[in-house]
Amino acid sequence: MKNNIESVIKKIKLEIKKHNYLYYVLNKPKISDLSYDILFKKLSYLKKKNKFFKKKKNIFGNKKNFKLTHHHSKMLSLENTFSIEGMFNFYKKVLAILKKKKIKFCGELKYDGVAVNLIYKNRTLYSAAMRGNGEIGENITKNIKFLPSIPKFLNNKKFPNFLEIRGEIYIYKKKFHKLNKQNVKNKKLIFSTARNLAAGSLRQKNYKISKNRNLIFVCHGFNFFKEFNDIKYFENNSFYNILKKIKHVGFYISKKIRLLNSFEDIKKFYKYIKRKRKSIPFEIDGIVIKINSLKSQKLIGYNNKFPKWALALKFLNQSKTSTLLHVNFEVGRTGVITPVAIFKPIKISGVLIQKASLFNYNYIKNLNLYYKDTIIVQRSGDVIPKIIGVIFDRRKKNFKKVKFLRKCPSCHTNLISEKNKNIYYCNNGFFCISQKKKKILHFFSKNAIEILGFRKNIILQLIKNKILNNPSDIFKLKKKNFLNVKKVSVKTINLILNQINNMNSISLERFIFSLGILGVGKEASKKISKHCVTFEKFLNLFYKNYTKKFFLKIPGIGINICKNIYNFLSNSKNKKIISLFKKFIF
Ligand code: IVH
Repeated sequence: MKNNIESVIKKIKLEIKKHNYLYYVLNKPKISDLSYDILFKKLSYLKKKNKFFKKKKNIFGNKKNFKLTHHHSKMLSLENTFSIEGMFNFYKKVLAILKKKKIKFCGELKYDGVAVNLIYKNRTLYSAAMRGNGEIGENITKNIKFLPSIPKFLNNKKFPNFLEIRGEIYIYKKKFHKLNKQNVKNKKLIFSTARNLAAGSLRQKNYKISKNRNLIFVCHGFNFFKEFNDIKYFENNSFYNILKKIKHVGFYISKKIRLLNSFEDIKKFYKYIKRKRKSIPFEIDGIVIKINSLKSQKLIGYNNKFPKWALALKFLNQSKTSTLLHVNFEVGRTGVITPVAIFKPIKISGVLIQKASLFNYNYIKNLNLYYKDTIIVQRSGDVIPKIIGVIFDRRKKNFKKVKFLRKCPSCHTNLISEKNKNIYYCNNGFFCISQKKKKILHFFSKNAIEILGFRKNIILQLIKNKILNNPSDIFKLKKKNFLNVKKVSVKTINLILNQINNMNSISLERFIFSLGILGVGKEASKKISKHCVTFEKFLNLFYKNYTKKFFLKIPGIGINICKNIYNFLSNSKNKKIISLFKKFIF
C-alpha cells in the first residue's frame, strides 16, 4: 500500500516537474491551470496520507522557517578512503571496468563546507537549497542571493536553459576565528568548526546576517538534462572542460583543480595538497578524484549513496597508522570489562603512545577489527588516543577477528551483558581478583565507609598479605595482622582498630555507595536511600520482592541500575559480606 502511494507520488512529481518546465522555461504550457491545480492537490493529499513522507520531512526538525526544495537529481555523497592503497584499488577497479590502460582523472580539493544545489532556469538563478536528505533540502535562495561567487544570470546563451550547479559553501578560517573571538567577548554562541559557522549562517532567517559573513560558493559539479535542454554546448565535453566553461560565466572554481593522467599523478597531487593544506585559507579534509570523461562516468554509474566514478582520499587529523598487536580486556572496579588495544608504539604530536581504549562491544564491532590490522590512531582533542579506523586494504587473509570475551579474564565467571549487549561485566565482585583491590579501596574511600588512618598503602598491603579479602574481613583484624605492614605507626593501628571496634552507625546512603555496584554512584545512592529509608526496605525492594514495575517509582533510577543491584544482591558471597555490616546501618 505504502509503496504504491510512494510510486504514485513519484509519478505526479515528475508530471509536475515536466509542466513546470513547459510553463516556466519554455513558456509553452500543455495543460490548463485548473488541471495543473488538480495535479498539485492530488499530490498534497497523497503526501498527507503517506506517513513515509512525513518521516522524511522530520529530518529538518524545528527548522520550520525554511521552505523545502526538491533537488532535481538526488544529491549523493562521496565514498572515501584514508589510504593510498584504497585509492589504488579504486584506480584499478575503474580501469578494469572501462577496459582501459590509461584514463584521465580530475583532481580537486575536498572542501569541508556545506553542500548546496543551485537551479538555473532560463539561465537565471531559480533556487538554492542545502542537501537535506539528498532529495529535499532547505531552500536558502534568499540567503545566498548576494554572494558574489553565485551569478544570478548566466551570460552565455549557449548554456543549457535548465541546469543544476553543485558546490560547497564555506567561510575563511580567519573569518571563523575572528567571529568566534568577538562572540567570546560578547558572550554569544561559539561555533565549533568553520563548517558549522557556514551552515549556521545559511540558516539565518535574517538573511542580512548571512550577507555579512563573507560566505563563498565553490562549484564542484553540475547536471544538465537532455530531455529538457539543448545541451550541445556541454555534450561531448569532459568534466574538467565543463568546469572551465562554468568558470567563465562567473562561478568560482578552485585554482587547485588538476588533470591527472596516471596513478603517479594522483599520488603527487595528494602529497602536494597535503603539504599545502595549512596555507589554504579555508578548511579542506582531503582530495577528490573523479573520472574526467563524462561518457565513462555514465558507464560506471552510481549506487544508492555514491557515484562510483569518484573517490575522496581524506587526510587524517593528528593521526598515524600502527599495527594492532593485542587486545587486553581490563576489569574495572564495577566489573565492567573494557577492551584496550595494544599497538606498535607511535609518536603523535611528540608523545609516544601504544594503547587506546576500545570502549565496548559495539565499538569493536563497528571498527570491524582484526588482530594485526593496520589501524588509524588519532589523539582526540589532541590528548586521548583513539582508534578511528582500519585500513582494510592491508588486511591479510590469515588475520583473526577480535572477539569480545564471554568469561571474565580474571576469575572466569560468565559475563553479564547490558545495554543491548554492548557492555559486559563480571558479577563476581570482591571475589574477582582484578576487582578486589579497586573495590576494597572504594569501599573504605572518603564518600563511602571512611576509616581514619586506613590509608591506601595500608589497605593494599593487607590485601597483598591475604588478610583483607573482602571488606567484612576488617572485623577479624587484630594488631598482629599489621606486623608485616610497612609505614604504619602503632598510633595509627590503634586508631584504625578503635574505629572498627566502636563502629556503630553507617548511613544507608554511604553503605549503598560503598558497594560499588555498576551505575550506583553517589547520586543514585542518595536517591535510593531517600526512598528506602531502612536497609530492610532496600533489601526487600531490590532483591526479595524484585519487580520491574516497582522501581519506576524511584525517580532517576532506571531498570538497568535496578537489575545491577539485584544481580549484586543475588550473589550469596556478597550477601554474606553485607550481613556483617547490617547491624551498623541505619
Ligand atoms: S562531488 C556526486 N567534489 O563532500 C558526488 N563533493 O563527503 C558528490 N564535497 O556531499 C559531489 N568537496 O558536498 C564533490 N570536490 C568535491 C567536493 C565534494 C567537498 C562534499 C560534497 C559531498 C561531500 C561528501
